[in-house]
Amino acid sequence: MNCIVTTIRKQSTAAESLAHRAAAILQVPYIKRDGMGIDALRCRFGIDTVIVATQTHPIASTSNGDYFFHLSMAELRINKLLNAESDHMISAMNLQTGQSVLDCTLGMGTDAIVASYVAGSEGRVVGLEASAIISLITSWGLQNFMDPDVSPKILAALRQITVQQTDYFSYLKSMPDDSFDVVYFDPMFRRPVANSITLKPLRELANNEALKPEVLTEACRVASHRVVIKETSGSLEFNRLGITHITGGKYSSIQYGVIHTGGTAWKN
Ligand SMILES: C[S@@+](CC[C@H](N)C(=O)[O-])C[C@H]1O[C@@H](n2cnc3c(N)ncnc32)[C@H](O)[C@@H]1O
Repeated sequence: MNCIVTTIRKQSTAAESLAHRAAAILQVPYIKRDGMGIDALRCRFGIDTVIVATQTHPIASTSNGDYFFHLSMAELRINKLLNAESDHMISAMNLQTGQSVLDCTLGMGTDAIVASYVAGSEGRVVGLEASAIISLITSWGLQNFMDPDVSPKILAALRQITVQQTDYFSYLKSMPDDSFDVVYFDPMFRRPVANSITLKPLRELANNEALKPEVLTEACRVASHRVVIKETSGSLEFNRLGITHITGGKYSSIQYGVIHTGGTAWKN
């Protein structure tokens, strides 16, 4: 992997210990910071990405900006649900308390957190992420993110998400029929959303491949209830994949393609 791990300039035992753990997980070298700038480290080691360990969390410093875990829109979306407003993704999933969701494209985990909150402590959310760096940063955040202003119930939703660094196709192929109620995809958008500060570094680190029809076939076998795909409005992806049931807000820039799998129906 084209990457090294170091610490913030102000060294501490916590940052060093996190840097060593990150280097071991990613199987890349740990480099003592020794006051060097990040760009100088990039030049010296001929690498694109430097993982910088702070006392509390890892940051991926890319040539397109920093990538680190934050709640993004998750808290706002959960608060809207608590105010009896609908969330288009949850409606598309028809997600109920106690159900299970396989999020095949975990990314920052925002969608998975909202799903985990709705599924509740009796539900289950597993997030898959192909990129080792994104997987490291998101799984660290889900397990360790702390903010006294965030409700314990939201933090519990973060903690109950299980992360696996793997390709979704091989994972789906390994799963028995009807293993999850809902299987969800939010592929990197075919048409990049302009000016998205979060998406720029994500795009550099992420797997940017389009969804393949054979992956959807496996997803429909694994989902007992629904397969849901998120796309930008006006994208030709739904057409390409043969998805005809599309939902979402009338004026929203996002749409959701829904496949009703109906349990064992897909297996015949
Ligand atoms: C648009 S982001 C998902 C954002 C996420 N829904 C959220 O709420 O933060 C898509 C993510 O899926 C990952 N991905 C793409 N192809 C994948 C694959 N074949 N297996 C697993 N993860 C994949 C990318 O690396 C990227 O992190």
